[in-house]
Amino acid sequence: MAVSAVSVRQVSKIFARASQRVPALQNVSLDIAPGEFFGLLGPNGAGKTTLISCMAGLCRQDQGQIHILGHDTRTAYRDARRALGVVPQELVFDPFFSVREILQLQSGYFGIRKNDDWIDELLAALDLTDKAASSMRSLSGGMKRRVLVAQALVHRPPVIILDEPTAGVDVALRQGLWQFIRRLNRDGHTIILTTHYLEEAEALCGRVALMRSGQICALERTETLIRQFAKHRLTVRLADGGHPLPAVLMAQAKPLPEAPRTWLWTLDQLSEIESVLASLRESGCKLEDMSITPPDLETAFLSFMNDGAGKGERRD
Ligand SMILES: Nc1ncnc2c1ncn2[C@@H]1O[C@H](COP(=O)(O)OP(=O)(O)O)[C@@H](O)[C@H]1O
Ligand SMILES: [Mg+2]
Repeated sequence: MAVSAVSVRQVSKIFARASQRVPALQNVSLDIAPGEFFGLLGPNGAGKTTLISCMAGLCRQDQGQIHILGHDTRTAYRDARRALGVVPQELVFDPFFSVREILQLQSGYFGIRKNDDWIDELLAALDLTDKAASSMRSLSGGMKRRVLVAQALVHRPPVIILDEPTAGVDVALRQGLWQFIRRLNRDGHTIILTTHYLEEAEALCGRVALMRSGQICALERTETLIRQFAKHRLTVRLADGGHPLPAVLMAQAKPLPEAPRTWLWTLDQLSEIESVLASLRESGCKLEDMSITPPDLETAFLSFMNDGAGKGERRD
């Protein structure tokens, strides 16, 4: 079997905070194959950043092993670190360096000299060429984020980890960033991404892991997760002055608080729409408007997290 891009074996990490013990990772295992575009999803505090920090050797797990392309992050730290490019969640920089200086320093950290051709390529790909001489302090948040991406890539790492790279980044820039990351993935790089934007994960990631309270509660191909957990949603607005929704239908539907006379059904099967519409007709309700939303990762995620499956043990 080919060596995994990232292999995480039974990793646990407990933070001690004041007198409390916070189990940030509890027996986490996963394997990511070379060339995958993998999503690490979960609510705030789920342990995503801690897992990434352990992969990058920035944080020591209490138990378990992590290998990056076969290199143990503890016993072969330098080789493991060299195989990785990490775009961190927090923007931390020395404000007085210029963009080019930051990238040259990072190259030096990896022992690479004369890296300017590649640095120029990165700057061009990230639309930063005319900012090369600007000090970090003068850049907007979105531009700083792009410099972080360039910084993660100066040593051409085969495995790239991005921790919430598009948080607070405007739509146009997000699109540009994804185009670039997609290209890296097509060129053979393994990409691991955490994001709050589930439509982004749905569009990009072949597989996703859902994390919650330091555990992986689902690990599936994205389309499998959507098929298993997402529902069709039917939204109906009743006509003003018509019959109100009868009690038996109220039991199936939820009112949308922000819209008057508007009700939402979540349906396991699209075909259930027929019986809802028939019941509405029989009850004398008139429809003013109706829409159907197909299953997506966002609804899969919500129903997975809410219906109890995400609260218990991992499903295999
Ligand atoms: N350095 C730290 N010291 C104490 N607790 C921490 C530290 N880093 C993270 N935690 C805690 O560990 C848990 C997981 O955090 P984190 O990995 O940042 O989650 P996520 O990235 O999924 O939002 C949270 O409860 C968080 O408060
Ligand atoms: Mg985080």
